[in-house]
Amino acid sequence: MRIFKRDRQVYMALMAIFLVLNGCSVKSVPTDAIDKQVEDLLAQMTLEEKVGQMNQYNGFYDVTGPAPSEGDAKAKYEHIKNGWVGSMLNVRGAKEVRRMQSLAVDSSRLGIPMIFGFDVIHGHKTMFPIPLAEAASWDLKAIEQSARIGAIEASAEGLNWTFAPMVDVSRDARWGRVMEGAGEDTYLGSKIGVARVKGFQGDDLSANNTIAACAKHFAGYGFAEAGMDYNTVDMGTVTYYNVIFPPFKAAIDEADVKTFMNSFNIVNGVPSTANKYLQRDILKGEWGFKGFVISDWSSGREMIEHGYASSLEHAAELTVKAGSDMDMESYAYVKHLVDLVKAGRVDESMVDDAVRRILRVKFELGLFDDPYKYCNEKREKEMIYHPEHIAAALDMAKKSIVLLKNEEATLPLKKSHKIAVIGDLADDKDSPLGNWRMAADDNTAVSVLEGLDAYGVNYTYTEGAKLVTGPTAFSQELTVNTTDRSGFKHALKAAREAEVVVMVLGEHGLHSGEARSRAKLGLPGVQQELLEAVYKVNTNIVLVLMNGRPLTITWADEHVPAIVEAWQLGSQTGHAVAQVLFGDYNPSGKLPMTFPRHVGQVPIYYNQFRTGRPGPRNEVFWPHYMDESEKPLYPFGYGLSYTQFQYTDLEVAVKSKHQVEVAVKVTNIGDRAGEEVVQLYLHDKVASVVRPVKELKGFEKIKLEPEQTIKVVFKLTEKEMGFYNGMGDYLMEPGEFEVMVGCNSEEGLRDVFVIE
Ligand code: NOJ
Repeated sequence: MRIFKRDRQVYMALMAIFLVLNGCSVKSVPTDAIDKQVEDLLAQMTLEEKVGQMNQYNGFYDVTGPAPSEGDAKAKYEHIKNGWVGSMLNVRGAKEVRRMQSLAVDSSRLGIPMIFGFDVIHGHKTMFPIPLAEAASWDLKAIEQSARIGAIEASAEGLNWTFAPMVDVSRDARWGRVMEGAGEDTYLGSKIGVARVKGFQGDDLSANNTIAACAKHFAGYGFAEAGMDYNTVDMGTVTYYNVIFPPFKAAIDEADVKTFMNSFNIVNGVPSTANKYLQRDILKGEWGFKGFVISDWSSGREMIEHGYASSLEHAAELTVKAGSDMDMESYAYVKHLVDLVKAGRVDESMVDDAVRRILRVKFELGLFDDPYKYCNEKREKEMIYHPEHIAAALDMAKKSIVLLKNEEATLPLKKSHKIAVIGDLADDKDSPLGNWRMAADDNTAVSVLEGLDAYGVNYTYTEGAKLVTGPTAFSQELTVNTTDRSGFKHALKAAREAEVVVMVLGEHGLHSGEARSRAKLGLPGVQQELLEAVYKVNTNIVLVLMNGRPLTITWADEHVPAIVEAWQLGSQTGHAVAQVLFGDYNPSGKLPMTFPRHVGQVPIYYNQFRTGRPGPRNEVFWPHYMDESEKPLYPFGYGLSYTQFQYTDLEVAVKSKHQVEVAVKVTNIGDRAGEEVVQLYLHDKVASVVRPVKELKGFEKIKLEPEQTIKVVFKLTEKEMGFYNGMGDYLMEPGEFEVMVGCNSEEGLRDVFVIE
């Protein structure tokens, strides 16, 4: 059955007629009071002032991209005073934002306030776990709260716009930015993206503690070939429609996200920034997006390197025509757009459309009522590091931890144990803040050692080996220690004398993030050697992993009895780790991304398309590796608890062609309370487009006391049971569906149902 059919050819023909009739111009019709204010203001603006609104400059201290040669401060000040700058990024602090804002408000002819953007990615000053870690909580309320607190602190520092959430789905752990997203799954990623937008924007965007959110990077950036940042993306429309687009669309439909950022990559051979199909046809056309689109840092200019624009002027022309409304640090609009309009190469209505969108968000934020509403130093002092924020960061950190292995109840530990702690990261107060922590104060995380101290644990500590040598400043490449094993001797002595060894190993916080791709996914440096050396003298090891991406810890999984995935958990890291290690908190996190056994398996993800030769088979002709299992090390959705859950009584009831109810009973059969993420996966067995082997289509996190049973009921509608074809038509086809409900993407109770 076809529930939404749009003939793309007819649509494209109508679009073409529309564009011809309108002389390739863009029109939007004012609808409410804000639109009226926008129109009044627009009518007073010169062309130069309009183009100014479409220009964003970086501040003067931090850069989050390559600094262009034009970036001299004196010129920027003059441009702001002339009304040629609509926004700034990387300016923060109530006092500093007020100073910059007053240049625009007091000196420019119309006094239009600027909007101040910043990468508020996982907390602002109080740092929360990196987004990938938060996603492991599957706790939407907690994630929304984390974004809410990020917004409260950022807005207290004068900011009113975050470049978050990143809703790029990614299946490639080599890509450093997986730390910034919600992992490999579209369904989970959509829910989390919506929660984050709601957290940032709150119920009232005009309040002084809410900020505009930005769904990024539109679109496909998470599929950079070979996991290399900024690399080519090339894939079919079925994947765009079913995997990449849904979190973006959900951010609009379910959370009214105010802005979008386009991406560095090409889509079907056209850079996203100049991609009319993405920005005008899909985003602003089909999806009816009313907010504005910002380019990524210098992505307009980079089209020259792509070989898509012949000059900066050409880049300006292409990007404005494609619907990229604000230019971040390309200097393309500010330098060329006025002339392009005057020369008749760009219709002024396109500029008007962009400016309307930008002004609208500024009005919605209340910047015209009070441009300094976010610039209150008293509030700044009160809100930054507020005790409630710190408590919430600790709660989120605990919820983000995933127990990967716990043989023979190695964990929880007892304080009476003789414990040796080994690993450079255990004593690190900076790395756990993770990447994208521009506003964080250096060295403000509670280290693992500090967490153990606060918990009253006796232990001996040796570093074992330095993880990185040299500077670890935000913009530097990290120098990983691959030679210095001089600390091994002390570590082995400590391990020999201990009953249990807690090894804190993994990646530095700056090993992941933008431009931090890795070709290897093992423990960096000499850490693997250290682990194996320690194992030779004491096998009773608890491995605490700190990392911003899935790692190939296959050896550890085969040897070490207990493994705790502790990511980079932010300000409260040490307390969270201590509470989990000693059983005060029962871990409940589930992996939002598959862990490969070997980097050669990447991209590896649970919801692969069905092939024609599913295995395993008794002969050679099926998809597998000769030298490695085709299975993941830990599948998507996987995570253990200190208690056990039993799934029984799966019931499926087909209520109508569009409604199916699936119920399951979950019982806590262990001896302590715990939380479980009950996951539902669906598989459409025969369809007009090949469907994945399974797809997450529902989950619920429940808390159970020992012996308690809870019945969880999922309602499936066409939203869960349908799919997009390669033309973007949403289809729901009758036939047989397989359903699985369980504790991860591989284990669960299964049944089938038929939709007539
Ligand atoms: C480049 C990144 O790709 C983007 O996500 C970020 O928001 C901007 N730089 C601004 O820092």
